Amino acid sequence: MNKHIILLPGDGIGKEIIESAVQVLNAVAGEFGHTFTLDEHAIGGAAVDNYGTPLPDATVNACQNADAILLGAVGGAKWDGLPADKRPEKGLLGIRKALGLFANLRPVKGFPSLLHASPLKEEIIAGSDILIIRELTGGLYFGTPSERRDNGHAVVDTLAYERTEMERIIDKAFQSARLRRRHLTSVDKANVLESSRLWREIVEEKKKAYPDVTVEHLLVDAAAMKLITNPNQFDVMVTENMFGDILSDEASVLTGSLGMLPSASIRSDGAGLYEPVHGSAPDIAGKGIANPLGTILSAALMLRHSFQMEAEAAAIEQAVRECLDQGYHTADLDMRGGQEVSTREMTEAVVENLTCKSVSDSICGM
Ligand code: NAD
Ligand code: IPM
Ligand code: MN
Repeated sequence: MNKHIILLPGDGIGKEIIESAVQVLNAVAGEFGHTFTLDEHAIGGAAVDNYGTPLPDATVNACQNADAILLGAVGGAKWDGLPADKRPEKGLLGIRKALGLFANLRPVKGFPSLLHASPLKEEIIAGSDILIIRELTGGLYFGTPSERRDNGHAVVDTLAYERTEMERIIDKAFQSARLRRRHLTSVDKANVLESSRLWREIVEEKKKAYPDVTVEHLLVDAAAMKLITNPNQFDVMVTENMFGDILSDEASVLTGSLGMLPSASIRSDGAGLYEPVHGSAPDIAGKGIANPLGTILSAALMLRHSFQMEAEAAAIEQAVRECLDQGYHTADLDMRGGQEVSTREMTEAVVENLTCKSVSDSICGM
């Protein structure tokens, strides 16, 4: 198959980890006989520096015409003082909105050889397998433009949702639960927020159409606690934009590192932007030590969801598993023994293990 992929490396470690994913995609193309045409475009701080905007029109156009998009990360101290609409993060929010990517799927499933890499007790995290579904194009991130009032002594950020925006993400969550263990946890703050009360009403309405899925409501504060004290109680979690952002970074602790988590930002027709959950990691950028696995696993999600290349996706996941079983790990993974390697060495190890023959179950199950 021929596929056209747009690469958006962005800032900080974004460039390093996208380079890793490209190596793995090239290896997949060779192994399975595909042609991936890869075109790089600017986003985030790099785009501000070169084009004066975090999201140039050329980037949006290229993404609209692509078969899929793979993004690294955006942001950094250099651009933190810019006005809101010029910040690198605005580029990321802008491309999600422009493409209508309302559903962000963040699978959280640890690899067996990383069980002891988490600061949490092994007996608590063993077997955990969660799919966090985060609403991605509404809520606090996209309210009426934030304002400073009273000469800067007061601020307003607004949290707005349309019923239809809630309905489509909740439907997506029920459908995903059906493909997994049929348990859905809806996370909100219905004891305080009106938006959460509407959210909860919609979940209650929708559950009648999915009688085979069990539903539980949790308030976000308690959910944050349960996520790390009893992660095995969760199958699919669905929540609004900001709660999902925070809970997914927390959930990454189950896997040993934030650098491990992939994500898929999709819409109903299957179009998608694939991105690791972490950011540009300015503290380690340029050192060649970033963990590339979250991005490599995001590329696997891209193959599975946008291209229906299940065997290819599973081959990448299997190769990652084998590298970790062989003891290779980047510095962020607190592993006993094994060999600490650079971003490049980790990538080479994945490529080395990649084969079209050994294919196991999907790690992401979504
Ligand atoms: P971060 O996710 O960049 O980093 C948090 C911590 O995790 C850091 O200590 C970092 O070194 C570590 N880390 C993250 N990814 C890693 C990897 N692949 N390998 C090894 N270690 C890794 O979050 P932050 O420091 O709060 O934010 C830095 C910048 O990134 C900010 O400008 C923020 O806006 C931006 N950001 C962007 C995205 C995105 O582009 N999707 C996501 C989150 C944050
Ligand atoms: C993420 C990031 C972004 C978000 C920021 C950089 C806008 O934290 O993708 O999780 O909050 O969505
Ligand atoms: Mn985040």
